[in-house]
Amino acid sequence: MPTWLKDAVFYEIYPQSFYDTNGDGIGDLEGIIQKLDYIKELGCNALWINPMYDSPFMDAGYDVRDYKKVAARYGINEDAYRLFDEAHKRGIKVLLDLVPGHTSDEHAWFKASKEPEENEYSSRYVWTNGAFVGVKDHPYMAGMSDRNGAYMLNFFASQPALNYGWLERTESWMSAVDSPEAIATKEAMKDIMRFWLDHGADGFRVDMADSLVKNDDNKKSATAKIWRDVRNMLDQEYPEAALVSEWSNPEQAINGGGFHMDFYLDHWHNGYNTLLRDYETDGEDNSFFLKSGKGDICRFLNDYMPKYKATKKNGYISMFTCNHDTPRPANTLTPEELKIAYAFILTMPGVPFIYYGDEIGMRYMKDIRSKEGGFHRTGSRTPMQWDNSANKGFSTAEAQKLYLAVDSSEDAPNVADQMNDENSLYSTTKSLVALRHMHADLQADADFNVIYAEQEKMPFVYKRGKLILAINPSGLEETISLDEFQGYQPIYTIGKVSLEDTNLTIGSSAFAVFQIK
Ligand code: GLC
Ligand code: CA
Repeated sequence: MPTWLKDAVFYEIYPQSFYDTNGDGIGDLEGIIQKLDYIKELGCNALWINPMYDSPFMDAGYDVRDYKKVAARYGINEDAYRLFDEAHKRGIKVLLDLVPGHTSDEHAWFKASKEPEENEYSSRYVWTNGAFVGVKDHPYMAGMSDRNGAYMLNFFASQPALNYGWLERTESWMSAVDSPEAIATKEAMKDIMRFWLDHGADGFRVDMADSLVKNDDNKKSATAKIWRDVRNMLDQEYPEAALVSEWSNPEQAINGGGFHMDFYLDHWHNGYNTLLRDYETDGEDNSFFLKSGKGDICRFLNDYMPKYKATKKNGYISMFTCNHDTPRPANTLTPEELKIAYAFILTMPGVPFIYYGDEIGMRYMKDIRSKEGGFHRTGSRTPMQWDNSANKGFSTAEAQKLYLAVDSSEDAPNVADQMNDENSLYSTTKSLVALRHMHADLQADADFNVIYAEQEKMPFVYKRGKLILAINPSGLEETISLDEFQGYQPIYTIGKVSLEDTNLTIGSSAFAVFQIK
């Protein structure tokens, strides 16, 4: 286990929307380099960069055309190597995005694979044995080339599924998981990982990590076995490299697959979803962090605790403020509510991730035109708002040339203003990150115990190591008496908090950390 993960606080960067340095309207790697000092000042010491590889961008880069080449719009490979170097100089680690489940249909492997003549790549993807033979229960394409077969899709139509074999084989054309072609695909992925790790990357966020083997069982045991093998490779060759999975099943991903971290994704009504985004289109929003106070931390804990307990010895659950697939938290929460939500995310066990712009409460831009396969996700992918100058300081290009329009509302938040305001969301986020770095008890592997959590009641009180933390997201002041408070005093507060002996009074939208006197 890489020890640096204990105190890691990640910052996710969507490269096309972060900072444009050559005025073409699209963010670039040089832009990330120029903003490393900003990230360091915020307190983040690790990055996840969304795909920056050569791609036709039918899925914003998750359709990779060349895994070993930086997309021209972001720069050249040397810029990536320089980025690793400059980040390391500032104590910042860099994870790239590995997309192992599929490529673009313009990838050289796929171009060879669709040829009717048998070649090295014929079985690199999942093909049936006839153009009129479909893939049962899965999307597929047929009639797209002269090869007499249909190929399986892993996501959009331009993303053919790579072949890692089928655990349960019901058709003659299904490869076994230990077939030479399935092993060759796995080895090709390891080769790509070694390429970037040798050039200075510190690991990978793994896209759709659970999607490799088809007809895998309930435990995804065959897919997990592949990742175990990858983990063994890392342990032997790159022991400091880290892997975080897009899986959202830590028992499978961490215990089974050997991932160091697994994302707790925004899935309908799971524990994470009840915290920030528990809304229905016409229904009532019962998110725990809403000031209306209709939320219930027990809904989160019932889902989270078994997962946490089962995996805490082996790895970390990663919570994020948002990601590039999820509506931004500012969609439903005010800056006041966000401060309390971030206080929670940044003091929980596991490794937290902040999505670019969430530190200033950037809005989810509803109903904007889809870009590069984003659809509803596009609203969370707009340019970073650096200051109040043209294009909010993102780019010097004409506004129509930007990758996506910036939030042009008059009160759109920006970094420069919030850095000068000690009450801003930015300043609170920064102080919370600093707090986490200061106390080993708040970091990834320190114990987590619930002290007070009652259905439909506030506050929520929990322990990290020897520290006690209390949260009241609601709009009403709460009082509570707990023996555990004996001998404690507050060392960090948001909002109104007072502790007299064992009696806590915690104001509306408040948070506190207590330490033994
Ligand atoms: C993951 C990515 C998403 C992408 C999909 C297909 O869910 O986060 O953005 O579209 O995989 O690669
Ligand atoms: Ca650019």
